[in-house]
Amino acid sequence: MHSGRAGDAGPARAAMPTVAAELPGVTSHRHPSPQQRRYADDVLGGPTDTERARLAAMAAVCDPTTIRVLDERGVGVGWRCLEVGAGGGSIAAWLADRVTGADADSTTGPATDAGAGHATRAGHVVATDVDTRHLDVLAGPELTVLRHDVTRDPAPPGGPFDLIHARFVLEHLPDREHVLDRLRDWLKPAGVLVVESIAAFPLDSSPHPAFRRAMLSIDEALAKTIGTDSAWARGFPGPLQARGLVDVGVSVHLPTTGGAGASAQCWALTLTRLRPHIRELDLAGDDTLDEALDCLADPAFFDLSFATAIAWGRAPDY
Ligand SMILES: C[S@@+](CC[C@H](N)C(=O)[O-])C[C@H]1O[C@@H](n2cnc3c(N)ncnc32)[C@H](O)[C@@H]1O
Repeated sequence: MHSGRAGDAGPARAAMPTVAAELPGVTSHRHPSPQQRRYADDVLGGPTDTERARLAAMAAVCDPTTIRVLDERGVGVGWRCLEVGAGGGSIAAWLADRVTGADADSTTGPATDAGAGHATRAGHVVATDVDTRHLDVLAGPELTVLRHDVTRDPAPPGGPFDLIHARFVLEHLPDREHVLDRLRDWLKPAGVLVVESIAAFPLDSSPHPAFRRAMLSIDEALAKTIGTDSAWARGFPGPLQARGLVDVGVSVHLPTTGGAGASAQCWALTLTRLRPHIRELDLAGDDTLDEALDCLADPAFFDLSFATAIAWGRAPDY
């Protein structure tokens, strides 16, 4: 597993900065305009231990499926990868191990220019986020951590990329179609794009009224504050096909929430974080929210929550 050596100044295999680098022209969103709320302002994100725990719970639920999909896409030694909105960095760390061969499961062998057209250069991962405070510890020769806003900052160094992956990022960005154009432009020929998004379609059928209302209120609060669209993924892989990607596909992951497990912990932390917005917008009452939190803490409670839709596609090889 990637060791997360903070400040490791080992052999500079790639001439790229490693710790919380910034690009010329990069804009900071630490002080947003009060009119426009964005993900990493006062709605979600931030440097707290609670947010770190939320990202860790998210990773515990979703990483196995993400890794299966990335593995099926052939990610291997030598690939140059961009992890957008890397959050706590679990997938960036996995990718770094995979592309450098530190991963014992790396069976792909050295990349060649034949076949899928992946580069013969040393494998490398660039992990970006508007807030890198949960990521900085991962920086090292094989993993560049970059403070970067995917909606507006210049293309990250290290591209064009063999793989670009973004999980739970684009659905939260109102200009997601523009962002997808940008990600498509940053792929090399035969490069692979994998986009994951929450999808709200399972919520309506929940048999637990308080839980259903609370989860729908998360969806509505995110839509009203930062412009999240949890229905966007229902059209997958359309947005990738529209950009000329080939070999497209979709997989839907619908994890069980409950049993006081990682998914329940993640949603309880998310609900608690969004509670002031939910109340301010009058989307659910305190009694309902308390009952939903009790459900999530109950080892005997089980339900479904948001699904994750995962779409992939490959740039034509010309
Ligand atoms: C729900 S978290 C997902 C984190 C990680 N991808 C995962 O799945 O574990 C969304 C992440 O996207 C980042 N993010 C939000 N807006 C962004 C932007 N405009 N550019 C880059 N990252 C952004 C947030 O800071 C946060 O770390």
